[in-house]
Amino acid sequence: MDNIFDKKIDRSNHEEKKWSLEHLKRTFPVNFSKKLHSLWIADLDFETPKPIVDAIKTRANKATYSYGYIQNEAIEAIVLWYKKLHNITLDKSMIQIVDGIVNSMIEVIKCFTKEGESVLIQTPVYKPFEEVILNTKRKLVANKLVHKNNEYHIDFDDFEKQIVDHKVKLFLWCNPHNPGGRVWRDDEVLKIIEICNKHNVFILSDEVHGDLVLKGEHNSILRFADKVKEFIVVNSPNKGFNLAGLYGSYMIFSSQKTMDLVMNTYKQSRVMTPNVFFQPALIAAYANDESFKWFKAMKNYIHDNYLFIKEEFTKLGFLEPMNVEASYLIWTKINLDLDWVALKKELFNHGVIVSFFDSFMGAEPGWFRVNIGLPRAELAQGIEEIKAVLTEFKNR
Ligand SMILES: Cc1ncc(COP(=O)(O)O)c(C=O)c1O
Repeated sequence: MDNIFDKKIDRSNHEEKKWSLEHLKRTFPVNFSKKLHSLWIADLDFETPKPIVDAIKTRANKATYSYGYIQNEAIEAIVLWYKKLHNITLDKSMIQIVDGIVNSMIEVIKCFTKEGESVLIQTPVYKPFEEVILNTKRKLVANKLVHKNNEYHIDFDDFEKQIVDHKVKLFLWCNPHNPGGRVWRDDEVLKIIEICNKHNVFILSDEVHGDLVLKGEHNSILRFADKVKEFIVVNSPNKGFNLAGLYGSYMIFSSQKTMDLVMNTYKQSRVMTPNVFFQPALIAAYANDESFKWFKAMKNYIHDNYLFIKEEFTKLGFLEPMNVEASYLIWTKINLDLDWVALKKELFNHGVIVSFFDSFMGAEPGWFRVNIGLPRAELAQGIEEIKAVLTEFKNR
């Protein structure tokens, strides 16, 4: 086998949501007598690179797992990573390592808004964007993205209107976008900044898919730092290196004042340091040449998977897959009027698990997301099954 990403790994005994039968049986009414095509949750069916596995083993061998602290070497690894991957120079005193992106959103909401105040998101979007707002008893305000030419566009008039009408204080930005796979362009980033500055809206930019831009550059808000009043970037190596189960992430702040405010909120509600394995893993992901090579090769492989699925889906005539600029998730519209509940059931009957529109905030019926971070031969079988089910279903 020439390509390491072609290797199929058996994750059925890894006790992880995507492949563990115990979890899948609890969660989805799947016909388990069929070959399973688990194409939902956003992780990779590739082995994490060896330097990371070795770093975790080395830490495990120390045989104590007590309270950690933020390691200087981990902060320096983040600085190094941003320089080599994005050519962005970070100020290391503006970085904090914490216990997960979604958790950090909750702390930022608590820090910058009060109960009943408005938080803006763009829909459709990854479901926890909704949950963090509603669970903290804030008001959810949505700027609906516009679907045109296989990508999402921003209706800026509506974006500003929502801010003004609802006195929005905070904008949770999915940048790049999940599920749309969109990398926001310079003019869009600048316009968002202009409107948020004008109305004193604080920006939290969730850039967890930013390292996974497949071709070209990730338009981090950090590139526009001198133009934004205040912002926070949240990111982690979780998506790119399959480390989500280590529950770690980091925050990059635009000022000491913002950092102090947020960290103070953190201290009131949680232990903010991640578990003992996260920082060794992050250092081995971000500061190791072999991991970097793996990462670049992985993105090329994903890009080829994307071209493959795009062609296969488009050929059907009634599927409209989004252009994927970042990450390994392909958001596709079924241009037919079908019974979606029955279709979902039919896919489950054939062992296919994809993420349907109802698992995203504000998604319209008819959309589904396929995870393409897996060996191509496996993806091909999944695609064949999806195509066969859809074709048979629409002809009923
Ligand atoms: C946009 C986005 N933010 C955050 C997360 C999850 O981050 P964490 O597991 O660190 O909370 C995901 C996971 O898919 C995501 O897509």
